[in-house]
Amino acid sequence: MRHLMNPMDFSVEELEKLFDLAADIEKDPEKYAHKCTGKKLATCFYEPSTRTRLSFESAMLNLGGSVIGFSDAGSSSASKGESVSDTIRVISCFADICAMRHPKEGAPMVAASHSSIPVINAGDGGHQHPTQTLTDLLTIRSLKGRLCDFTIGICGDLKFGRTVHSLVNALSRYSGIKFVFISPEELRIPGYLREKLWENALTFEEVIRLEDVMSKLDLLYMTRVQRERFFNEEDYVRLKDFYILNKAKMALAKEDCLVLHPLPRVNEISVEVDSDPRAVYFKQVQYGVYVRMALILTLLELV
Ligand code: NCD
Repeated sequence: MRHLMNPMDFSVEELEKLFDLAADIEKDPEKYAHKCTGKKLATCFYEPSTRTRLSFESAMLNLGGSVIGFSDAGSSSASKGESVSDTIRVISCFADICAMRHPKEGAPMVAASHSSIPVINAGDGGHQHPTQTLTDLLTIRSLKGRLCDFTIGICGDLKFGRTVHSLVNALSRYSGIKFVFISPEELRIPGYLREKLWENALTFEEVIRLEDVMSKLDLLYMTRVQRERFFNEEDYVRLKDFYILNKAKMALAKEDCLVLHPLPRVNEISVEVDSDPRAVYFKQVQYGVYVRMALILTLLELV
């Protein structure tokens, strides 16, 4: 039995297979409409979510399966003091696969080690968010035709943004990737990630001004400032509008530079950018459903 805690749990070859499957699902969804008949997905979300939880639920329903779960810790027995390891033992009796989001780093991993069904990490604190990364990679592969040889700018909260940590890890296995990290001083990538990039001799630079690097990017990954992980509101207020991508900044970008965002967006991308054909963050949401369908099928060994 396999779980998904980190995008690195899948080899590059396994990811290729998963993305091929997702692409086939996109082409011919009918073929997959009954693959999960009689199977249940449990979504155990101890932290707020719109996209990820509904994307998982939509993925399972598209496969003909059904869904149970809770969407906030307050409505689960966690509020009575139940441990994650007990909860997953119970959920294992009710469902065939579980997607778990938790504010504590490592909680889905603890669940996986006590589970008799596959567990998917749907985001753990400021740590990892592997299915967002699968979504990002599938979007890039589908729209750019490759996962190598490009310069990617990653902008915003690189310290607390778990989607950033997962994406950097995952992309570091492909050739010819240059990272440009764009953040205020206080929100730079964590030291462990910087060291990992050094160790693997990957090309990266860290800058503060988005305008200075815009013209060399093939991809721009925008992120919101993660208010819920700040220690004080004052710092959040000071940093929240540090970057606002608008039409004027888009005018500096390459004609085929794609703009991605894991969403939710707050102020970091002005709505005037939404109609720019290079803005693909809403398409990205659709790819998220295809890739989660492919993941459920793979972990349930139905392909
Ligand atoms: C992200 C998350 O939860 O980390 N959202 C998502 O799942 N698409 C990004 C975020 O909350 O900023």
